[in-house]
Amino acid sequence: MKTMKDDIQSVLYTEEQLREGVKRIADEINRDYAGKEIYAIGILKGAIIFYADLVREINVPVSFDFMAASSYGKGSTSSGAVKILKDLDFSIEGKHVIIIEDIVDSGLTLSYLLKNMESRHPASVKLCALLNKPERREVDVKVDYVGFEVPNEFLVGYGLDYDSKYRNLPYIGILKPEVYTK
Ligand code: PRP
Ligand code: MN
Ligand code: MG
Repeated sequence: MKTMKDDIQSVLYTEEQLREGVKRIADEINRDYAGKEIYAIGILKGAIIFYADLVREINVPVSFDFMAASSYGKGSTSSGAVKILKDLDFSIEGKHVIIIEDIVDSGLTLSYLLKNMESRHPASVKLCALLNKPERREVDVKVDYVGFEVPNEFLVGYGLDYDSKYRNLPYIGILKPEVYTK
């Protein structure tokens, strides 16, 4: 029987390496937010696994909220417009917000969300992404907390999908090109 693993060319980060990366980010956040409370905004759906692991390593109070966004004309000549499919449940006015993403690619999603969040008058906003793929950047966005700088390969697992699949792989793998070129 064919399994998800048959579609993976190689493992980029093992579960152990991901755990270490998550811990490293959490240590920085714990240091920077000592004595404060965090309003953590996870961006559905890719960020969900990273979010769940990260918040359990944070030692200050964390409020949970989530947004779903989709970008128009991604990869082409895009205006950078992003449509909000699910908005926050509560106001972030006066809160210390951290936006949590699985990966920053073109940067369009995060730069839009950052502007959108800033217009809601939080006390502060920072960006946190497990993976950063600078080679694909189209707009400048400063990511405050990054786990790993990744090569320009098709990555799946640990929340990242191709065609809605592979999110539940516990590691991050490089997808075989034949899977997405056929
Ligand atoms: C992916 C990823 C980021 C975004 C990064 O989400 O999870 O949210 O794209 O790309 P960008 O930097 O070019 O904007 P996707 O739109 O695939 O939705 P998903 O999280 O539900 O998979
Ligand atoms: Mn996403
Ligand atoms: Mg996706």
